[in-house]
Amino acid sequence: MIVDEKIALIDTVKRPFKDDLLENVKNIVDPADIDYLIVNHVEMDHSGSFPDMLAVLKNAKVLATKEGSEELRKHHGTTVDIGIVEDGDKLSLGKRTLTFIKTPMLHWPDSMMTYVVEDKIIFSSDAFGQHYASSLRFDDEIDPKVLHDSAADYYANILWLYSPLISRLIARVQEIGLEIDIIAPDHGFIWRDDPMMPISWYSEWASGKASGKVLVVYDTMWGSTEKMAKAICSGMLDEGVEAKLMCLKDTEYSYVMRDLLDCKGILVGTPTLNNNMFPSLGGLLTYLKGLRPKNKIGATFGSYGWGGGACSAAQELLKEGGVSIVLPPLELKWVPSSEELDRCNEFGREFAKKTLEMI
Ligand code: FEO
Repeated sequence: MIVDEKIALIDTVKRPFKDDLLENVKNIVDPADIDYLIVNHVEMDHSGSFPDMLAVLKNAKVLATKEGSEELRKHHGTTVDIGIVEDGDKLSLGKRTLTFIKTPMLHWPDSMMTYVVEDKIIFSSDAFGQHYASSLRFDDEIDPKVLHDSAADYYANILWLYSPLISRLIARVQEIGLEIDIIAPDHGFIWRDDPMMPISWYSEWASGKASGKVLVVYDTMWGSTEKMAKAICSGMLDEGVEAKLMCLKDTEYSYVMRDLLDCKGILVGTPTLNNNMFPSLGGLLTYLKGLRPKNKIGATFGSYGWGGGACSAAQELLKEGGVSIVLPPLELKWVPSSEELDRCNEFGREFAKKTLEMI
């Protein structure tokens, strides 16, 4: 909320938290004194309590993009008059001026950011956010690794697909020379110590730059695919390539995507179950395909009993997700023998060499 001669509230909150929002607002101003309710983004984590707030912000003019206006009506059935904001429009609150920057598809068609010219604060909506909740509020209060990992997790799972738009946005911000002292996203902590840091991270992530690591993600039924995964990792380490092993029994899809962001390659291990992938891998790869990670190489491996099929099915999904397949699948029958584990080691070595060629 910006309290000036005019008062503007930017976005609301998820509906279960409407009372917290209202209480916070009431601690500062009478809700009836708020002049503008600015909707940067309509997704329910941002506008879920829009109808509740509207009921108490009796004198507020709602402002949104044209797309935001349509989405507000479709989501909330609101018939209230909505002022349409165009890219670059300005609004004076008295001592401060707001500039609206349309950022369609970051994250929905409606999305925009609001920039406070005099304070050099950008209310960035989803961009530069994190799925992180704490009583701490600012980047300089948070452990640097948590800062990075939270931002990476968010980027990989929410914005990766829109990387070309992120690159364009950053170029545009640089082109117009937008000075930024504070980035205040709608999620997680606020960047006040070094607001350029997440911008440089976004720039790298959007370009597809990554370290030379390889992510080995797998699931296993009776342990054979796990044995293969470990032997493959050992082969990669022999070639000097760092491998990160992730078993889907112990982790979530979102962490896989977060870690993949900084890897050049992905190896997917899946047992064959009923002529197809293990369901956990099917889910992961469907998710990955939607996010379309850039500049990754990949391959698949796994054990089967009487008929394979999982590896080629997994490979197909990787390809559809934009991953370049650099080795044919490695499928082994039943439990791998020590000779077969040597083959896994060799498979890891070969994949490591392909990875090193990319650096
Ligand atoms: Fe696109 Fe935070 O929602």
